[in-house]
Amino acid sequence: MKDTSARGDRLHVLVTGGAGFVGSHLCAALLAQGHRVTCLDNFFTGKRDNVAALLADPRFTLVEHDVCEPYEADAPLDRLYNLACAASPPRYQADPVHTMMTCVLGVGNMLALAERHGARVLQASTSEVYGDPAEHPQRESYRGNVSCTGPRACYDEGKRAAETLCFDIVRQARLDVRVARIFNTYGPRMQPDDGRVISNLVVQALAGRRLSIYGEGNQTRSFCYVTDLVRGLLALMEVDPAPQGPVNLGNPDEYTIRELAETVLRMTGSASPIAHLPIPKDDPARRRPDISLAARHLGWQPRVGLEEGLCETIAHFRALRDDRSSVEVDGPVRWRQFSGMRQRAGSLE
Ligand SMILES: NC(=O)c1ccc[n+]([C@@H]2O[C@H](COP(=O)([O-])OP(=O)(O)OC[C@H]3O[C@@H](n4cnc5c(N)ncnc54)[C@H](O)[C@@H]3O)[C@@H](O)[C@H]2O)c1
Repeated sequence: MKDTSARGDRLHVLVTGGAGFVGSHLCAALLAQGHRVTCLDNFFTGKRDNVAALLADPRFTLVEHDVCEPYEADAPLDRLYNLACAASPPRYQADPVHTMMTCVLGVGNMLALAERHGARVLQASTSEVYGDPAEHPQRESYRGNVSCTGPRACYDEGKRAAETLCFDIVRQARLDVRVARIFNTYGPRMQPDDGRVISNLVVQALAGRRLSIYGEGNQTRSFCYVTDLVRGLLALMEVDPAPQGPVNLGNPDEYTIRELAETVLRMTGSASPIAHLPIPKDDPARRRPDISLAARHLGWQPRVGLEEGLCETIAHFRALRDDRSSVEVDGPVRWRQFSGMRQRAGSLE
């Protein structure tokens, strides 16, 4: 594996899924550290707008490409962050076969690319590998409770298979790969219509519509602000030696969805009522990361509390609403025609 220390800190970094929510924040942070960044995206859920401000920087390159197809970089690569994959349930369920292929073929192609370049890899995995967890909070050692045939399986099992590929290659001493198990992350640049719980609730509250919560809203989630996550991803990529297995990155503060809805109502000043909808299949009841491994190996822990993060996120959605008043989110998320099929109602990653 290549030692880049002799070239100092300026690296060539490939970020797949770089035009997405997390990826665009990561690209900006890498540029701010002085690196050259190639952002590769098929714009399935990502948007050029997310990286528009970066295009003026000569160290930033935007490439349209689907990771399901092999890719060759035009210059030697030092680091590869593999984030390509829709993260919101309605989006990844829209074309489940493509989601599974993105997870498995995509990771295979990106690992092959990294191997040709001797680049270090960080794979974006997910708390969904724990499924509907029987262990709480979730430690990395927990093997999970995932349905391999349900509607979420294309993502959950796809990400699990991707981890398998990563650790097989590590065991064969072919690459240095780090795997981040990311828990719910939120912040500016989330799409208003992507069906994630924070975007749904904030958009509905700002529009004065009913806030859709599933069941009584007693399910719990832990919400990590995007800048905290990006700090964790950067730290995990650069720590030496590499942790032996996957590392949870998330905020351990746990809220019920009802508490979240009430906080959103208070912070937006909205008088929207709450609508109770049927709980989607395989929706996890509880989610909270045990982050002791990240604290020990990376010295990492989240800094941004829910209200502080929500404040930025609400401002983002307010600005979007004022820009374009066309987005409609009501009860089960309504979608415009997308990828040739009508979307289903989403749940809560
Ligand atoms: N945001 C979260 O809460 C969260 C939680 C767990 C895991 N993750 C993981 O983090 C990564 C980024 O998530 P996000 O929230 O930014 O989602 P996102 O949907 O905003 O971004 C995903 C990006 O990947 C691109 N993409 C999808 N399929 C692709 C393909 N086949 N080829 C090339 N590009 C493709 C999309 O266009 C988009 O830009 C994902 O891998 C996701 O699984 C996110």
